[in-house]
Amino acid sequence: MTKSIKNICCIGAGYVGGPTMAVIAQKCPEIKVHVVDINAERVAAWNDPNVENIPIYEPGLSDIVAETRGKNLFFSTKVEEAIDEADMIFISVNTPTKTYGMGKGMAADLKFIELCARQIARVAKDDKIVVEKSTLPVRTAEALQDILHNTGNDVDFQILSNPEFLAEGTAIDDLLDPDRILIGGDIDTDKGQAAMKALVDVYAHWVPEAQILTTNVWSSELSKLTANAFLAQRISSINAMSEVCERTGANVDEVARAIGMDSRIGSKFLKSSVGFGGSCFQKDILNLVYIAKTLGLEEVADYWEQVIILNDHQKRRFAKNIVKTLYNTVSGKQIAMLGWAFKKDTNDTRESAAIYVSDHLLNEQADIIVYDPKVKTEQIYADLEYLGHHSSEEIRRRVKVVSSAKEACHNAHAIAVMTEWDEFKTLDWADIYEKMYKPAFVFDGRRILDQLKMEEIGFKINIIGN
Ligand code: NAD
Ligand code: UGA
Repeated sequence: MTKSIKNICCIGAGYVGGPTMAVIAQKCPEIKVHVVDINAERVAAWNDPNVENIPIYEPGLSDIVAETRGKNLFFSTKVEEAIDEADMIFISVNTPTKTYGMGKGMAADLKFIELCARQIARVAKDDKIVVEKSTLPVRTAEALQDILHNTGNDVDFQILSNPEFLAEGTAIDDLLDPDRILIGGDIDTDKGQAAMKALVDVYAHWVPEAQILTTNVWSSELSKLTANAFLAQRISSINAMSEVCERTGANVDEVARAIGMDSRIGSKFLKSSVGFGGSCFQKDILNLVYIAKTLGLEEVADYWEQVIILNDHQKRRFAKNIVKTLYNTVSGKQIAMLGWAFKKDTNDTRESAAIYVSDHLLNEQADIIVYDPKVKTEQIYADLEYLGHHSSEEIRRRVKVVSSAKEACHNAHAIAVMTEWDEFKTLDWADIYEKMYKPAFVFDGRRILDQLKMEEIGFKINIIGN
């Protein structure tokens, strides 16, 4: 018999756990949703009386949190209490690339997932549905099953895979109106089917049932890695063509438009850029490469690895082009970085191209002035320090963070557009030009500026893919 869910716990109050649970709480007012995290600072920010101070910036998120928080949406560090109360537990913790041991630099680090499983097993006193919301290697559910059933208090655990497809910056729209919801479970047993139905019923509060796909658990886990690999592959494909365009006089947006009108190809995800960033594309492809390698599928591994190789090349060649164009030296020159987030409308900077381009410019002894409308100063320093290539002292001396684009560009030798924030399109470029060193160079890594207009003002502009 299908259980009607009354109490949800989500472990992990991050970019996925926070927005996903806020939307579930809004759409399912009869369900109590308790989001827990071991990071007390993050939880405190989620509970900040001023809802604009929640730790994640996503258009529309603060309104939903304001509407639901304290009614049926709760944030706390009481992980065990929340597990104990819940009928359904979402695991939404981070699964970064391993930085040590076997699979270092490739495999997903599942230690946070395993810790959650052990905690659930220890605490649970009645039957639970455990939902993998984090992105996981195919067959992780098997390991979870093993831990839960061998450590647990003799209660029944049904494990479902329910990967998340939201993109940052559009998370709320993606959650409210998803292309599909994917639920993988043990379709061969009654209990497995009942668990899947219980989760279908949660989403059916707002998603048409035809868009809720149910599959076996391995297909679901693998589909998530596959989706990210295909999406990233499109970006590397168009970025590969951007370099050909630059050498031949073709224009990459024109090429993208021409091929995108072929309905078999489609027009989305063909925007050439300085390289994809974000917490997942690189990590998930590396994980896929690792899985292929461990299965002995060398050609498959090499095929997908090339998507990453091309992406690294794109970031590197953008940085090298800045140095080359500025007469082969940027030492002591001021480079304004417009944007630090890995895309617009988010404050997330994980794997942002801006970090790698800046690191390269620091190697060349440039001075860097950063402006991003949503990223905090300390985050920018932390991102550069994490690479370990330059001392904290050097980074803080050479990198300055300012509170407007105009300020960043004042007295700059060159400007690099790193994030496609809308406000960069409408800056007073003529005024900026006046206050820069001449020749005034602009490197547009996002293709948001109008080449002709910029040249008319006097800029020497380099647009990726032109
Ligand atoms: P995140 O780092 O923003 O959040 C994860 C949170 O989990 C952190 O706040 C951390 O403190 C917490 N945590 C870790 N271990 C814990 C434990 N044992 N108990 C309680 N809390 C714990 O990560 P994210 O971006 O939300 O990603 C989470 C997962 O979702 C990853 O597997 C990612 O691949 C996947 N995913 C992310 C996105 C995205 O856009 N960010 C989209 C789809 C899928
Ligand atoms: C991506 C996927 O789009 C989501 O479906 C998935 O759930 C998520 O990864 C995940 O698993 O984490 P996200 O990384 O948040 O979402 O953002 P995207 O819009 O995919 O952008 C990723 C990067 O690619 C950004 O740096 C963006 O600027 C870049 N990009 C995107 C391009 O350079 N060109 C494009 O055409 C599209």
